Amino acid sequence: MSNYHIKHLEEYFQVYRKSVRNPEAFWEEIAEEHFLWRKKWDKVLSWDFSKPEVTWFEGAQLNITENCIDRHLATRGEKTAIIFEPNNPEEEAQHISYYQLHDKVCRMANVLKEKGIQKGDRVCVYLPMIPELAVTILACARIGAIHSVVFAGFSSNALATRINDSDCKIVITSDGSYRGNKSIDLKGIVDKALEECPGVAHVLVAKRTKSTIEMKNGRDEWLQPLLDAAYGDCVPEIMDAEDPLFILYTSGSTGRPKGMVHTTGGYMVYTAYTFKNVFQYRENDVYWCTADIGWITGHSYIVYGPLANGATTVMFEGVPSYPDFGRFWEVIEKHKVNQFYTAPTAIRALAKQNLEFVENHDLSSLKVLGSVGEPINEEAWHWYNNNVGKKKSPIVDTWWQTETGGIMITPIPYVTPTTPTYATLPFIGIQPALMDEEGHEIMGNQVEGRLCIKFPWPSMARTIWGDHDRYRDTYFTAYKNNYFTGDGALRDAVGYYRITGRVDDVIIVSGHNLGTAPIEDAINEHPAVAESAIVGFPHDVKGNALYGYVILKETGETRDRDNLRNEINQQITEHIGPIAKLDKIQFVSGLPKTRSGKIMRRILRKIASNDVSNLGDTSTLLNPEVVQEIIDNVV
Ligand code: PRX
Repeated sequence: MSNYHIKHLEEYFQVYRKSVRNPEAFWEEIAEEHFLWRKKWDKVLSWDFSKPEVTWFEGAQLNITENCIDRHLATRGEKTAIIFEPNNPEEEAQHISYYQLHDKVCRMANVLKEKGIQKGDRVCVYLPMIPELAVTILACARIGAIHSVVFAGFSSNALATRINDSDCKIVITSDGSYRGNKSIDLKGIVDKALEECPGVAHVLVAKRTKSTIEMKNGRDEWLQPLLDAAYGDCVPEIMDAEDPLFILYTSGSTGRPKGMVHTTGGYMVYTAYTFKNVFQYRENDVYWCTADIGWITGHSYIVYGPLANGATTVMFEGVPSYPDFGRFWEVIEKHKVNQFYTAPTAIRALAKQNLEFVENHDLSSLKVLGSVGEPINEEAWHWYNNNVGKKKSPIVDTWWQTETGGIMITPIPYVTPTTPTYATLPFIGIQPALMDEEGHEIMGNQVEGRLCIKFPWPSMARTIWGDHDRYRDTYFTAYKNNYFTGDGALRDAVGYYRITGRVDDVIIVSGHNLGTAPIEDAINEHPAVAESAIVGFPHDVKGNALYGYVILKETGETRDRDNLRNEINQQITEHIGPIAKLDKIQFVSGLPKTRSGKIMRRILRKIASNDVSNLGDTSTLLNPEVVQEIIDNVV
């Protein structure tokens, strides 16, 4: 029997050593014993980080939906696969069994086929957290189409860029979406985006808010009648292990968003195996991850990882503050949630509320708590541990990325002793390294450096859609023969890792990855703006918030500053989405630049963080005089 389910620390070390000494034999055993393959692989792994090229389970054939649905039908057909908890607690929750999921996915798959979608075609999914979202991505996987989910909080501009980048032929959306006491006109956003997307022939619209929307003749159709008419079975397309499963966009520090491409076999094996261990999932547990399926966390740990294990996974449409700040705790009590996985920004927001919101609910079902998306500060960790876990449920602080596909550094609950703010030890098969700025690996413990991964793992992204050079340059050039994460980390005396944050120009705001360049581009399009620079500064709920330094054109100098601030944020909302709005905007006459013209963000970051005691040597700047002016006028 392979070591599919790790149960104690000694076993972790033993399995870890095995996975590192002979990765191919290790992953072969896991893949062989726990998944359904139509054809076995010819080779477990080939890799060359200099190209970079990585293939896992080459030559193998499978369909991931057979693993996530069909194979459970004989033993778990009546078991609930998905619990849908609506935004409004008065609306009844839905329990979708594996049988029902099979029926829904097959119908949706047949609808997509009818619309001409074939293996390899890209399907854009712009849906709120309703069952149709999970069903649509599984339906794509059923027929071998590549899904590209765009988070339904992104603006029409951001949506259009993503649709065009991967040439999506069809968009699946809904009339609107609910978020707390607000509703959002999703279809309107899609209509606007599609003015820029000539390649989209069909739009299928799920009915959610029943708001009045426009349906464009010949292009738009309501989804439900098509599903009702479709056949409830669909033969799965047989895919190669290395066929793309999905594209998911993430922000880079420069330029356009990066469409990370994940493939089928390795992604399935790794997300399923991590899910089982990181959440210590047992049959009949109810698992809830509060992320949106628009992010990688939702792909891997709401849909694929849990369903590949035949788990019951909760999909929550709402927000933690609606109808009040007790909602998360109410849902845990209502569905007797055993594993709960959320983000530090949510924990910090909830920790600010009256403790009664937590205490009014029975949380005794909880066994494991998880955290993801950004470093969890000590205060938030203790609040979570004391008040939600009642010091009985271990917290798994899971570090990973869109690019990594699955959890990389994490405690295993009831196995790895936890330490607040530490993601602790690498997961089985993961070989981290810390590097100095010259590109050498820093050996030993009690050291700090840039976090790289030395050896391939099954769920790593294989490329950036349409731009393999950018994939190589972004991740595999800075540290030869290593994958560079963009994060800094330290390794303490016992070998535990603590992630210290991004070392590039990506800023994590409320767990959302935001690149500075696209935001600056959006601001610079404002007619009154000449130039801008964005940095992050510490924020007690969001982790980081955005601070913008803006140089106005002469024509803008006479304008009212508050109006300009609103317009700039409006501009950002339209180009990217409200998540990228700036908390503070300072108008400046210049930005500190090196003699080669590069903005010294380090100085701007310090000023925005109110830490001007040690700005370093500014005398080599092209324009040292602006530094004092900026400090004097800080907002
Ligand atoms: O900086 C790290 C941070 O989030 C980045 C990845 O963001 P994204 O691709 O959106 O994926 C988020 C969900 C997996 C990382 O480079 N990050 C993620 N988890 C943690 C974290 N930072 C510290 N601790 C974590 N547990």
